[in-house]
Amino acid sequence: MILVFNWKMNPEKLSDAEAILDFLRFAQDKLKKTCTETQSVEVWFAPPNLYFEPLRKKYNEFFDFGLQNTFYEQSGAFTGEISPKMAKNIGGEFVILGHSERKKLGESLEDINKKVLASLEVGLRVILCFGENVKLKSRENIIFEIKSQLKILLQDVPINSENLYLAYEPAWAISSQEIGPSSTEELKTFLDWYWQNYKFPIFYGGSVDSSNIENYLTLKLNGFLIGSASLKPEEITKILNIASK
Ligand code: 13P
Repeated sequence: MILVFNWKMNPEKLSDAEAILDFLRFAQDKLKKTCTETQSVEVWFAPPNLYFEPLRKKYNEFFDFGLQNTFYEQSGAFTGEISPKMAKNIGGEFVILGHSERKKLGESLEDINKKVLASLEVGLRVILCFGENVKLKSRENIIFEIKSQLKILLQDVPINSENLYLAYEPAWAISSQEIGPSSTEELKTFLDWYWQNYKFPIFYGGSVDSSNIENYLTLKLNGFLIGSASLKPEEITKILNIASK
């Protein structure tokens, strides 16, 4: 089970980020044992790219650190971008690509596909997000939408790519406190369809927290992508305890 905590554009200060990780480190003296030695739960953090290096240096022993985005070129004149090679060279273990919040800012599926290929090329683990933007009523419509997205997102990606993880995050369920499809049979049905068609490990994301994660644990998921709850250290501790039972 892999728990990926995506901090998005938070917290405002590096010291606040350190306070969260210090809390986790000290409050749970068994954290390291639970999370790394037994491999029952892996904990990955995706801080804002700016905090990546200091946090990785200080907490590398306890958590895996990755980036929230990388570009699709490895070098060149691209102001403001970070190449996958740079991310890898600085110790990045993984990158989140195609998050719905980035798509809202204009990132296209074609660009995300190029980013996936470029990041896999340098050996970064890739968490590739997908999911419908609005609540769709029928299962057929959801599957039609997802299939069309994945067709573009996975173009030229070898089906045996070991470093690729997919993350199903219906955009309407993100930070919405709406009950995701998990509480119904919908997510289970979706996952049955997914596993008949794809082999990449899959995470779920969308308002996952300590009050609902238990509902998802019986489903065929390899982990979770967690946003809002990841800024509350007590909440993370609860999630870890539930997930490692
Ligand atoms: P929330 O947990 O806030 O819904 O965010 C999910 C997410 O976008 C993780 O990448």
